[in-house]
Formats: sequence, structure tokens, C-alpha cells
Amino acid sequence: MTLPTTSARRIAILPDAVADQIAAGEVVERPASVVKELVENSIDAGARHVRVEVETGGKTLVRVSDDGVGMGRDDAVLALDRHATSKLTSAAELVGIATFGFRGEALPAIASVSRFSLSTSDQNGAGVEVTVNGGRMERVEPVARQQGTTVSVRTLFFNTPARRKFLRSTASETRACHEAVLTLALAHPGVGFEFHADQVNRFHAPAGQSLAERLRSTWGRDLSDTLVPVEFAAGGFRVQGFAQRPADARPTGRRTQLFVNGRPFRDNFLVRAAESGYRSAIAPGDRPSLYLDVLVQPGDVDVNVHPAKLEVRFRDRIGIERVVEDAVRHALGSLVAAAPLGTPSWQAPAPAAGASPAGTASLVHDLFGERAAAPGASLPSSDAGPAAAAAGQGMPVMQVFDTYLVYASEDGLVMVDQHSAHERVLYEQVMKELTGGRATAQHLLVPVTLDLNDEELDAIESHRDVLDRIGFEVVPFGGRTVALNAVPNPHPRFDAARCFREMVSDLARGRFGGWANRMERFAATYACRAAVMAGDRLSEREIRELLLRLFATTLPPHDVHGRSTIVQLPVEELERRFGRRG
Ligand SMILES: Nc1ncnc2c1ncn2[C@@H]1O[C@H](COP(=O)(O)OP(=O)(O)OP(=O)(O)O)[C@@H](O)[C@H]1O
Ligand SMILES: [Mg+2]
Repeated sequence: MTLPTTSARRIAILPDAVADQIAAGEVVERPASVVKELVENSIDAGARHVRVEVETGGKTLVRVSDDGVGMGRDDAVLALDRHATSKLTSAAELVGIATFGFRGEALPAIASVSRFSLSTSDQNGAGVEVTVNGGRMERVEPVARQQGTTVSVRTLFFNTPARRKFLRSTASETRACHEAVLTLALAHPGVGFEFHADQVNRFHAPAGQSLAERLRSTWGRDLSDTLVPVEFAAGGFRVQGFAQRPADARPTGRRTQLFVNGRPFRDNFLVRAAESGYRSAIAPGDRPSLYLDVLVQPGDVDVNVHPAKLEVRFRDRIGIERVVEDAVRHALGSLVAAAPLGTPSWQAPAPAAGASPAGTASLVHDLFGERAAAPGASLPSSDAGPAAAAAGQGMPVMQVFDTYLVYASEDGLVMVDQHSAHERVLYEQVMKELTGGRATAQHLLVPVTLDLNDEELDAIESHRDVLDRIGFEVVPFGGRTVALNAVPNPHPRFDAARCFREMVSDLARGRFGGWANRMERFAATYACRAAVMAGDRLSEREIRELLLRLFATTLPPHDVHGRSTIVQLPVEELERRFGRRG
């Protein structure tokens, strides 16, 4: 038998130009990939300001100019060779690499599928312009220019028509380029950015911004103002960034941005893990905005697993997901108690009881003593009075500033915002009444009358069913006046008329709009307006009852606005502050 000798079967090394085009297929998918690669190079080159221009969505032109270190003539030519990189010299350095680039692939790949020119100058001031056409180097000429680099990429995919056909509309390619700039702008708040599309300035962020300022510049003030900081560490990982307050999450228009050690990447499972941190605090369809940077040891993440470096691989994937979920939950739920005292950041344990039955039992025991903690035990009956409730065996509790409830748990000092706590309790109770049972209304001997405006009357009309269910019996009283014949009675100091008036005004003005579901919106409104207020003095019995009911709820430890309900000062933190521990 003879081996085939046709040239078609002979192995040959592909010419560079073809190899570059094949690499380009993976690195350069669309104009936005060019924007991404070039801007990354500019940031790697230490640029303080990066200007990005695109025309027709980048299909006819992508130009990126920077004021980075630039290149001398020899480097500028070499940069266009495959595997020419100044960022990496051995495979070992790939672990923990701090630059965006490391393959030396982007420039030759882009240049092989476009009309490409690179003009650059290093600190020696001898500028050079290199022109490449479809991978063929055409000219290397001196130019006069300041230190920095400008890369122009024209008619992308002109020599690979099959790929050019896949490009989308100008608007959609422009949007993708814009997004690529925003992502990198968020990764580097210190670097200034401009984005121009068809000569119109679409984005501008000055150099030297803080992360909070950069978020405002990129995501807009309205969205940024709904974010709360995330700062959490566990199991060798750290998560920092921002998560949206639950009440502000919407079903559409959210933004998510993940980083690992400052490097942007995509990972829907991790976003999902972060969403689990919200538990039931958001309606099922709502999608909160998230900006999260996961900090891991360099060896715990591989950034070289995706051709365009859009994805990464974690060694301990499950661990990362858990930390991200916990980080979000903590940010929303608890603590930062030490912040006003000026401590940088510390992590407290999860709120004492949460929803776990064991936790609740021990808390009940703490608050009410043995008797109440027995299975099936209920709150000591009201005629027993506060002394019986505590019975000398329960944990001391106190109210401070007529606003916060304070007690010591096994883990530390626990402070509860009474309004926020009551709001949560009422929210759950009202949701139950709205979906099943019905509240017991209290009939008024003398109906209360209220004058309302048209919007408020409309709000009553459109919420009549739910108002009725929770115990408000409202009847027209002529003109713009309504009468309340019956009202709910959630607690002894409840001011029905005030609550009703405020609630109707909230509903008319669309407050709590973040709750997608009408019933949840209504429950949140009522809970907020019916709860005891900051400044209401509570009896010890009321305090204990409120705490007990709070820890029987299943919502996460924050109120309907996403503010903290519980703040804990862990014992370790106390010990540190008093110098009892290093
Ligand atoms: N804007 C720039 N300013 C200064 N030097 C640059 C710039 N762009 C590219 N270079 C130089 O050219 C080299 C090649 O760039 P290229 O993007 O092809 O590869 P890389 O960034 O090293 O790796 P990767 O392919 O992962 O992006 C870089 O290593 C860098 O030395
Ligand atoms: Mg690069």
C-alpha cells in the first residue's frame, strides 16, 4: 500500500497571514471586540486618557488614541508580529497577570482583517506610523506626534466578506462598542474616557474619578443612587462593589458588571448567585443591578480560557458562588455598624436568628426565658405584663433614643431599628391577609373624614379590594371627601387616619414603584405607613413582642426600602476596640 502523495494531504505550516486571519476569527468577532482590544492596550500602556471614535458602528472606522507610554520604531513594527508581547515572557507569569493583554495576538489579528494603521511615539519623541493592509505590512514612516499611540482600523473584515455579512446594524454595533468602553471605564475609574460615534460625543468621563463618581458617569445618577456598598470576605475570597436596593430593582433595564481582581468578565451563574442574596426581598421578575469585584488569589483563577478573554475559570467555583451570595445578603441585610465609628471594614456574623428554626428558638429563649422557648409556646399573655414576660430569666432588652432596640446575643451586641423591624413584620402579615385571610377591622363609632385630591381618589378606587381586605372600609362622603368607617388595628398606638392619608398619597405618587407586583407594592406601602415610628417610646413588653415577631419572619434582614433592620457589633469587634484582642 502506498501513502497518498497528493499535495492536499501533505502537512504544511500555514502562512502567517492565514494564521493571523484564523486567530482573528476568535479574537475579533465584531467592531466592539476591536474597541475592547485597543482600549485594553491603551490602559496597559498606562494611558491617563483614552479617546475612542467609531463610524457606522465601527464597520468603517474604529480609532483609539491614548497618551500612554507609546512605542519606539522597532517595537511598533514588532507589535504586529504574532505572539509579540511586552507583557509576558514565561508561562509562569501568566498566573496573576495584572495586564489585560498577554498573548501578543490582538494587533496582528485585527490588522489581518482590516486596513490598519498604528501611529505611536515613546518618550524619545521619534514618532512612527505603520500601515498594514489585510495583514500585509505596507509602510513604516516617521510622523510627528506626541507621546502615546493611535490605532485606526478601517473597513473591518473587508477581506473576509463572509464575516462582514454577519455584522449587525450600525445602531447595534455602535451600542456594542459603547458598552465595551463603559465596561473598561468602570474597571479603571482613574483613566479618562471619551466615546464618539459618527462624530457625536456619546460618553465622557474625566480622569481621576472615584469609583462612585465613575459609576454615576457610566450608569447615570438615578441608577447609581439606588446602590448600596458591598464589602465582604470569607474563605480566602473578597467581594466588593455595589448592589441595588431591593425596592429599586426593576424587571428591565438592569446593569451588571462583574470583575475578578479588577478584570471584567461575564458569568451568568455568578450573577444568579448574587441574585440569590436577595432571597424574597425582590419580586420574582425583578433584576437588580450589580457591580461586583471578586478578589481571589492569582492562582485561584485562570483568565486564559476564552479567546476574547470574556470568561474566566475559578478553581473553587462553588466557594466563589457562595461568597458572592453571602456578600450581597450582608450588604442588603445587615451591619456596617462600625462604619460611623471610623473602622475600615469588618465582617459580622449573620443576623442572630434569620429564618432558621434553631436560631429562632434560641432567640426566643434569650428574650423570654425557658417557658416561651418550649415548642408551641406563644408569647406570654398580655395580662401577665412585662415583668412576667421577662420573668427575670430573659435577656435584658432596652430601647435607646426611642428608636433602636438593643440586646446582647451570644455573638455580640444586636441593635434593631424598631420602625424597620415592624415594617417587615407588617409586610408579611399584610401579604398573608391579601392572599388568604382577612384582617379584623375595627368599626369606628364616629367615622373619620378626609379631603383628598383627584389622584388620591383614583388611587383609592384602584386599590379598593386590597384596602378592604386589610380592614379599611372607605365610603364616598360627597365631593372629594371620603369617610373611614372601619380601620385595621395593627398596634395600640396606630393612627389610622394618618396612616391612610400617607398611604394613599404614596400610592397616588407611585412610590414603591420598584415592587413589580401590585399587591407587594401595596403591602410595602401599608407596612411603611402603619409601622411604629422612630421616636415612639415602646414598653418592654412591646419591645419583646416586636423582636419575637421579627425573628419569626422569613424575609431577609432588611426592610421594604432595602435599609438595614439589624446591626450587630460582634463580640470580637468589641474586644478589639477595647484592646482585649489583637
Ligand atoms: N496603545 C499601546 N501603547 C503602547 N504599546 C502598545 C499599545 N498597543 C500595543 N502595544 C504593544 O504592542 C504589543 C502587542 O499588543 P497586542 O494587543 O497584540 O498584544 P498584548 O496586548 O501583549 O496581548 P493580547 O493579545 O492578549 O492583547 C503589546 O504587548 C504592547 O507592547
Ligand atoms: Mg492587547
